[in-house]
Amino acid sequence: MRSVYVTRALPEPVLEALRRTFEVEVNPENRVLTPAELRANAAGREAVISLLTDRIDDALFAAAGPQLKVVANVAVGFNNMDVAAATRRGVLLTNTPGVLDDATASFAMALLLATARRLAEADAFVRAGKWRGWTPDFFMGLDVDGKTLGIVGAGRIGKNLARKARAFGMSILYSGRRRDIAFEAETGAAHREKDALLREADYVSLHLPLSDETRGYIGARELALMRPSAVLINTARGAVVDEAALVTALRERTIWGAGLDVFEDEPRIAPGLADLPNVVLSPHIGSATPGTRQAMARLAVRNVIEVLNGGAPLSPVNPEVLG
Ligand code: GLV
Repeated sequence: MRSVYVTRALPEPVLEALRRTFEVEVNPENRVLTPAELRANAAGREAVISLLTDRIDDALFAAAGPQLKVVANVAVGFNNMDVAAATRRGVLLTNTPGVLDDATASFAMALLLATARRLAEADAFVRAGKWRGWTPDFFMGLDVDGKTLGIVGAGRIGKNLARKARAFGMSILYSGRRRDIAFEAETGAAHREKDALLREADYVSLHLPLSDETRGYIGARELALMRPSAVLINTARGAVVDEAALVTALRERTIWGAGLDVFEDEPRIAPGLADLPNVVLSPHIGSATPGTRQAMARLAVRNVIEVLNGGAPLSPVNPEVLG
């Protein structure tokens, strides 16, 4: 029977659709497999359903064997996958765009608000029993309403955040290779080159995929362009930011604060980051709602079923493999 390997448990109702036609084996342990375990488990499979914590590389394709047709990532980001190697070997890769836009953009807004209004710091203060009564001038935060939000990478999630930010009366700037006239008409967003956006925005939110081009996209030079009152939000990938430079900027208050859901070497946090009061940290949970995670898993499963049945996947990363 044709066999599918799932690297971490997914909602069982979603897997049922696969089990009807294929043999499905799921990693029984609630942990990330080592690369050697992943290779051993991929051997002989026609499909693998992977997570962003799995390294999907040429060694894996080789170990799986030439019958491997598709690796379906349960994530919109696919920086864990070697796309060139997959294409060379004729293996389709798929991701899960679209279904997590609302959840991730809402989370970016939550981080923005939490950072601006010092929510994590305030929560820790109350829990520690330090509150002695209402005081007119403590825990002063930043205004959000009417401020300028700079969206770096106005793809699906970035645009979704812009729409939500409009409800706060925020003005929108965006950077990216192309102007998007429809987006501008809808939200009043104005296009800016990267440096101009960083200089002008009160809040900068990152929505770039991680690639060789975007690694370290926000470094010491970029942080120096931002206003001392500015806030950086990252729900994309940690390595888009030079974390050491960010720690310095936050420590020296050359920017006001940061809200970070993603880190370069997860789950490791850059030295010094967790000691700073002006940063809100969360453990890569931008898409973490049951409905969204189910929709992501469902899309990955549908991609696998389509490919194994000889059809076209809904969201291919390397459609050139289809010929
Ligand atoms: C989450 O980070 C994703 O890429 O879906």
